[in-house]
Amino acid sequence: MTTEKYDVVLQGGTCVFPHSVGQADIGVANGKITSFRPNLQHAKKIINCAKLTIFPGVIDSQVHFREPGLTHKEDLESGSHAAALGGVTAFLEMPNTKPPTTTCAQVAEKVSLASNRAFSHFGFFIGATAHNLEELIAAENCPGCVGIKIFLGSSTGDLLLYDQKILCEIFRRTKLPIAIHSEDELRLKEREYIRNQATHARQHLEWRDVETALRSTKMILELARKCQRRIHVLHISSGEEMEVLRQYRDTATVELLPQHLTLHAPECYDRLGVYAQMNPPIRERHHQEALWRALSDGIVDIIGSDHAPHTKAEKERGYPHSPSGLPGVQTIFPIMLHHALDGKLSLLRLSKLLSENPANLYGLNYKGKIAIGYDADFSLADLESQSTVSVEQMASSCGHTPYDGMKLKGKVCMTILKGNVCMLDGVLADKPRGEPLFQGS
Ligand code: DOR
Repeated sequence: MTTEKYDVVLQGGTCVFPHSVGQADIGVANGKITSFRPNLQHAKKIINCAKLTIFPGVIDSQVHFREPGLTHKEDLESGSHAAALGGVTAFLEMPNTKPPTTTCAQVAEKVSLASNRAFSHFGFFIGATAHNLEELIAAENCPGCVGIKIFLGSSTGDLLLYDQKILCEIFRRTKLPIAIHSEDELRLKEREYIRNQATHARQHLEWRDVETALRSTKMILELARKCQRRIHVLHISSGEEMEVLRQYRDTATVELLPQHLTLHAPECYDRLGVYAQMNPPIRERHHQEALWRALSDGIVDIIGSDHAPHTKAEKERGYPHSPSGLPGVQTIFPIMLHHALDGKLSLLRLSKLLSENPANLYGLNYKGKIAIGYDADFSLADLESQSTVSVEQMASSCGHTPYDGMKLKGKVCMTILKGNVCMLDGVLADKPRGEPLFQGS
């Protein structure tokens, strides 16, 4: 009688390891990577990965899946369906739902809403307000809570906090990673007349200008350094902020979005109108070039999607009544893979930005790497193929994508969660198998 050593072997693929890219079979037992070397035998199931490149599971560390309260835009099922189709094995979801997620009980409620319905692993942020410090402290021990989100400037929803005294108190007394939306609220308010008189989405970037982002980013970096607190600054959109962030590597990690790296003004507003409207805005090409330079220089730690769906009917209200935000969870990996295959970044760096670094930042100890003992979550792609983004393939309830029709190098073709194939060639292959993420798990 032969005893099978592995539940699954991924056979014949090229693996993106933490420090090298090379051929190996990967042996999986009980959802963990237990071996990788050539010609592994003794598996209950073999997955043929010939011609495929195996990345550690992509972790999208900024998505808005809108449940509870705004499920006409998206819910945990449709959002995670989109995630799995795009090769995303885990998502971290933002608290600007309705009501906003500002207590441990509300995080627990989200965990229960996602259980048995999510097609990728899931973690949730708790939102900071002027009055919930005790909840933010307690959230450290709240299963499924991965971080604190602070909106310094108002965006979708009511979460907003820019009082420096309260921010400092939060910095000093909490331990969870803190992710920051950095735009200066007072400047936004002062200049709201620009928005109110505007008639086209391209004016969004006049209202939410570079100074609005820069002022806020400088303030929060200074405050974090003073309070000796590391922070994570989300979706940086301007070259000017990058110059400042270079001086604060001891204080802040940095996120970029595919949107800011791929689309640019004015072209995107001329072509897409309100379907390019988001906060902070997509800026001119010289900003995009500065973001790519910062990425090459090692100033960028994480790529997230900021998947922020709004329905077409809501968008069609027209600027300035259209809400801000673009979908992206299904396209984050395909678009960034395309940039890698186009020579903009290496596969190793891509994998750090999409998997290893988010796992490290959010304390997901057994995710983000192809290494012994790590969870067998993988995102697989055929680098020789090509693909075309089409809105018909998008699983998000919002019904649009800024990349419709874009031709991409590479094709994302399989998503594996703890050794189980959950997406194959654009089709969900399994029941929802997402599990809650824990700090230190
Ligand atoms: O454009 C945006 N939309 N930026 C955000 O920060 C929030 C998001 C949303 O939730 O719609």
